[in-house]
Amino acid sequence: MNDKNKSKWQKLWASSKNKWLFGIPLGGFLAVIVGATALGGFNGVMHVTNSNQFCYSCHIGMDTIVEEYQASRHFNNATGVQASCADCHVPKEFLPKMWTKVRATKDIYHKLVGTVNLENFEEQRLHQAEYVWKVMIARDSQECRNCHQASTWSTDKQSLRARQHHLGEMVTDDKTCIDCHIGVAHSKPAIR
Ligand code: HEC
Ligand code: HEC
Ligand code: HEC
Ligand code: HEC
Repeated sequence: MNDKNKSKWQKLWASSKNKWLFGIPLGGFLAVIVGATALGGFNGVMHVTNSNQFCYSCHIGMDTIVEEYQASRHFNNATGVQASCADCHVPKEFLPKMWTKVRATKDIYHKLVGTVNLENFEEQRLHQAEYVWKVMIARDSQECRNCHQASTWSTDKQSLRARQHHLGEMVTDDKTCIDCHIGVAHSKPAIR
């Protein structure tokens, strides 16, 4: 490598003077892009970040969410149909999905500084749950409805209590699934 080329090569790994790059070497950005592409590109990144393993990597040991989920019927039941974390928490439509993923990048920071841990989780979980409920109500429980379609279920095969609510209050009071079914995969937060 002659001197001229060498200095170009070194420049790639030197702190950037461009303020938009926050002083991160350009080579660092390129390495991330090359790495992401090698892992299977955009779709690959979307797929990996929707897997239970990805959620487990932070939530195990940080809170009790995963253990509660694994004790629920959405994880284990006679039919073998399983709802993954992302099935309930990540929308399928492109824009809401992208918004959820971009918003979730805040959690990398919270993980690094240890905002949530096993000691304080019971205090933290109510406001987390309130956020999830708010999103689900605003989306008319769309993630639940991706699997449970009220237009095709047979209420006559449901328990009497379920039938009374699904044909009654759900219709007359325009209630959505999450209005009545909180705590389907995790313990309910202790209400203050
Ligand atoms: C990088 C670590 C990390 C990964 C990976 C991760 N989480 Fe989290 N998650 C957190 C942290 C930290 C919080 C607490 C954030 C806070 O207090 O604002 C959190 C909070 C949440 C909340 C509460 C509501 C909210 O947005 O604050 C939900 C729901 C959630 N995570 C679901 C998931 C799902 C589903 C996955 C997998 C698709 C996942 N998380 C992967 C770190 C992570
Ligand atoms: C990936 C598909 C899927 C998604 C998403 C899903 N469920 Fe389920 N759900 C199931 C299956 C399968 C069962 C049956 C489990 C069994 O046979 O015991 C079930 C069972 C239930 C039950 C009865 C058993 C129990 O645990 O009380 C309720 C209530 C329920 N779901 C509500 C919801 C709500 C509310 C949501 C959204 C927050 C939701 N489900 C999201 C697949 C799903
Ligand atoms: C007005 C309140 C209400 C609404 C709204 C509601 N449910 Fe229910 N649901 C109930 C009650 C009450 C039961 C019976 C639970 C029990 O006996 O433990 C039930 C039972 C169920 C069951 C179990 C079926 C059975 O035979 O017991 C499933 C699955 C379910 N609901 C899914 C949903 C889904 C999905 C939605 C949204 C499309 C929804 N529910 C909306 C109140 C409601
Ligand atoms: C069947 C749907 C469903 C599945 C599967 C599910 N969740 Fe949730 N999750 C909810 C609902 C609904 C809430 C809102 C609180 C509640 O009602 O329990 C919630 C709340 C949360 C919260 C806020 C804290 C709390 O206790 O409410 C976190 C964090 C979270 N989920 C992460 C996860 C992770 C990680 C997984 C997979 C290990 C997962 N969830 C699987 C439906 C689900």
